[in-house]
Amino acid sequence: MIKRQNLLLKQKGRVNKIRKVILVTGTPGVGKTAVAHKLASKLDAIYVGITELVKTEKLITNVDEERKTLIADTEKVSKKLQETIAQSKGNIIIEGHYATDVTPNKEVTTVFVLRRDPHKLKSVLEKRGYNEKKIWENLAAEILDVCLCDALSACGADKVCEINVSGKTVEAVVEEIIQVLEKKQECRSGTVDWLGKLENEGRLEEFLKKFSSAEQP
Ligand SMILES: Nc1ncnc2c1ncn2[C@@H]1O[C@H](COP(=O)(O)OP(=O)(O)OP(=O)(O)O)[C@@H](O)[C@H]1O
Ligand SMILES: [Mg+2]
Repeated sequence: MIKRQNLLLKQKGRVNKIRKVILVTGTPGVGKTAVAHKLASKLDAIYVGITELVKTEKLITNVDEERKTLIADTEKVSKKLQETIAQSKGNIIIEGHYATDVTPNKEVTTVFVLRRDPHKLKSVLEKRGYNEKKIWENLAAEILDVCLCDALSACGADKVCEINVSGKTVEAVVEEIIQVLEKKQECRSGTVDWLGKLENEGRLEEFLKKFSSAEQP
């Protein structure tokens, strides 16, 4: 029993030397919540899910009827995150597709941008019952690197690590993130190229047509 406790403490202490504010971002459906929850428990960190935070704290300006989502009051979200960071001494994992827009960037240690193959992402979004417009808007965002670009412009390339989660289990993704935090694996971005992949598969035109028809009112 003592041995097991020691092992757990050792695991949790692996990347705990300096307090970290870690962002987990990416297009809806890539697996941010699943990964961030597990990562927080492994690092003994506080987990903050922005979608949950917006709902529980009612940090809302309006409701987007077409997309059936709440429109967050980003100023209030940002203020709340700043308070949370200021009040806690341990590691914090902040998760959400616009995490880099609302977290004070000077506080951020590392941003993990999760990337998922567009074909796999499409199935996740279809299973959720999203309408065509919402599916193709999100797929366009994934293919055009929207979350990656947001992360790079908010926090700079040194802090941004892209993780391709396609075909990996949640556990494997979390382990990869820990390897990066422990500097056993390089933190890199610009490694994922879905446009190139679709072009090689001869499916780029099909996707681009879907994007433009989803944009029609
Ligand atoms: N690495 C993985 N392998 C297989 N399935 C996964 C993986 N990560 C997440 N999933 C599954 O994919 C779905 C989407 O994951 P999740 O809800 O965590 O995405 P999200 O990025 O948080 O989405 P949102 O931005 O809409 O909250 C869930 O059904 C989840 O169980
Ligand atoms: Mg989520």
